[in-house]
Amino acid sequence: MLTHDEAKARLNAVGQGHLLNFYPVLDESQRRGLLSQIESLDLDALPSLVEQYVKNKPVFTLPPDLGPAPYYPRHEKDPAKPWDRAAVEKAGEALLRAGKVAAFVVAGGQGSRLGFEGPKGCFPAGPVTGKSLFEIFADNIAGAQRRYGAVVPWYIMTSPLNHEATVEFFKKHRFFGLGHNDVMFFPQGVLPSLDAATGDVLMTSRHEIATNPDGHGGSIKALKVSGALDDMRRRGVQHISYFQVDNPLVRVIDPAFIGLHAAAKDSSGEMSSKMIPKAYPEEKMGVFCASRGKVEVIEYSDLPASLQQERLADGSLRFIAGSIAIHMMSVEFVERLASDPKFSLPYHRAEKKVPCIDPRTGEPAPAWGNNGVKLERFVFDALALCRASIVYETDRAEEFAPIKNATGVDSVETSRAMQSARAARWFEACGVDVPRTPTGEPDCVLELSARTATSASELMIGGLTLPPRIERGMRLAL
Ligand code: UD1
Repeated sequence: MLTHDEAKARLNAVGQGHLLNFYPVLDESQRRGLLSQIESLDLDALPSLVEQYVKNKPVFTLPPDLGPAPYYPRHEKDPAKPWDRAAVEKAGEALLRAGKVAAFVVAGGQGSRLGFEGPKGCFPAGPVTGKSLFEIFADNIAGAQRRYGAVVPWYIMTSPLNHEATVEFFKKHRFFGLGHNDVMFFPQGVLPSLDAATGDVLMTSRHEIATNPDGHGGSIKALKVSGALDDMRRRGVQHISYFQVDNPLVRVIDPAFIGLHAAAKDSSGEMSSKMIPKAYPEEKMGVFCASRGKVEVIEYSDLPASLQQERLADGSLRFIAGSIAIHMMSVEFVERLASDPKFSLPYHRAEKKVPCIDPRTGEPAPAWGNNGVKLERFVFDALALCRASIVYETDRAEEFAPIKNATGVDSVETSRAMQSARAARWFEACGVDVPRTPTGEPDCVLELSARTATSASELMIGGLTLPPRIERGMRLAL
């Protein structure tokens, strides 16, 4: 463990000596805690981060040859890029049957927009049952294990802020029936939050440094450092199905996507992505673009309005491929990146309100606007490091209903309505009479677990006796 004098010398060398201002008045355990926090920081990197991201704001420049990324259309007979769905699904299913696929959710974010206390994965998302997001994903995994007769190990990235609470939640719910040894939790790394005016590292108290999770891009290193990659290798896992914690409609295990990623001729099998057509130009989604022969995601905030709005002759958006943050990654690719000492993804800067103390007085600093700069890495920046990467179109109504906000767009209300609407369509495809309102919404609340079915056709052949009709106002979960 770093001594006080060593810490002082190292901090002074990078202009962050204020972190020890209150050391003399701390008790022994506070001192130890602070020194170990200081030891865990990459202090040598700080001066250049402050220079690049606080004193200056990086200016995003669009690559001159930027165009939309090509993609595999949802309908395999689309002349734009026809593909053999049956063969692709067979390839994906073979990998699943051989136990070569793992699920991976990034659940380290703070969910502050939702105003929910606790890990976001614990949020009650099911429209009828109020099942948590984590349980909905567990249902997907249990269903896949049954269908393919093989274990799908599940890796869950938390952050130091929600790790304990996440593990406790799983224990309380007995891992939702999954094997305890087949679910692994690990926290992502953190970065110090910086004073937006000075670049000084902020402190939340006299003995604690303000930190923030290092972004979902931190998952590449965290998969390695935590031993998750080694665990995958031991199990013979070759591919990782990556998804975000906020989307209860995600198909955690999708044989067609797995097959395209692993077997399509133009895929290197390193990292692939799912997209949906953007609903309107300003929709807050990253967009799949292509530049210098590589696929990349440009965040909505970085894509100029003129490009967002550009339309093709048929009226469709030119930059249409919205990212739903669902990827397949090979274990080999992640291993290659994470083992390279020179590997690093770019930082992205966000200005945020960070509660902190005044480093001179030790008293809470008066709150003012966005006083802090948080740096994060984004996983999709790894796409540019692939030899070749494919994008696959899917259907929003079937696979994307994120819960991001307390109200309005992408809220729990819109998500529950979309979950119910999807279940209604699947019931109708099986011949069940579903009541609808004059505007066409289901006049009932329905919820289908992925243990029951992950598509209308599975529901049809699943051997369940479905009711011939659903009554108005009925709430039904299967
Ligand atoms: C994200 C994508 C956006 C995409 C949209 C689709 C980014 C920067 N943007 O937006 O391109 O169109 O989702 O829904 O990702 N997370 C961590 N650790 C962190 C930060 C985040 O695990 O340090 C996880 C969160 O728990 C969540 C996910 O990453 O599962 C997304 O994070 P969030 O910051 O909410 O991204 P969005 O702005 O919603």
